[in-house]
Amino acid sequence: MKNSRRNFLQKSAIAAGSTLLFPNAVGAHNTILKEPFDQKKKRALRIAHITDCHVIDNAACINSMKRVYEQLNAMEDKPEIIINSGDIIMDANYKDLNHANKLWDLWFDLSKDNDIPIHYCPGNHDYWWPESNDKNVLEKAKAENPNYDLGLYLSRSKTAAPYYSFEKKGWKFISLNSMGSWYGLGDVQTNWLISELNTNTFSCLFSHVPIISVAPLLYSVNRSDPKEIRYPGDQHKDAKALKDLFYKFNKVKLCLSGHIHYIDAVEYLGVKYICSGAASSNWWEGVLDEFPNAYTLIDLNTDGTTEHKYVFYSE
Ligand SMILES: [Fe+2]
Repeated sequence: MKNSRRNFLQKSAIAAGSTLLFPNAVGAHNTILKEPFDQKKKRALRIAHITDCHVIDNAACINSMKRVYEQLNAMEDKPEIIINSGDIIMDANYKDLNHANKLWDLWFDLSKDNDIPIHYCPGNHDYWWPESNDKNVLEKAKAENPNYDLGLYLSRSKTAAPYYSFEKKGWKFISLNSMGSWYGLGDVQTNWLISELNTNTFSCLFSHVPIISVAPLLYSVNRSDPKEIRYPGDQHKDAKALKDLFYKFNKVKLCLSGHIHYIDAVEYLGVKYICSGAASSNWWEGVLDEFPNAYTLIDLNTDGTTEHKYVFYSE
């Protein structure tokens, strides 16, 4: 989400206070999860999905992120990979480059004892532009500074490309860049995705912005006149085209996202879409509406089905 909306949200959530109630919550301390979530299914692998960490140098963030990694790494039956779907640092848009690099340094410091491989996709706040309104300064950075746009994210996360795929335990994982055409993939990435979907392997996609989610609608309803709300809002603007591709190739079983900082799961035409809230909840300033700080554990089964549990890790 954009900064102006974020600032408004921070103020409004603090002013309103929040009551924490969430069904199907899994307290982290009683969640060692030694067995497959569904005993009748054969699990291929377990993953953790964490999103919108928005790392910043304050006590709430530092203590919480350490806790997340301690919990994940202490699990007897721990996830084999972590999917991080973006907004890794608080914000790199129009920020001093040294400041953005310090947040990345902090990100790696907080995760230095983590043994579980992390796979990333970029969030809108991971794009770097220099701290200036001067068009010439921005044009110069674009022409000369390799950190411009996604450069900083790619170099610091050691991710080879804005979008990529890999396979593990019989599942294909596809990392998408939701900002390929700003809340859409764009033609080049879409053509690449089509080539990736032409497979016999069950696929798990992850993107920062949700492809299909009810959360953006409810987020907007909580803040705007419902008559003003228009589809797709803060979802992928190419959702229909993507939905058609998933239906045609019939191998995408799971799509993971963040961005909204709300939690929901939608099942549509055989694809499960999970928006996993935010590790930072209200950008580390309390709780955003009904959605405390969270991450998600997911079992991917050999038959293409999945089960997930939200972990409200501060409980
Ligand atoms: Fe975010």
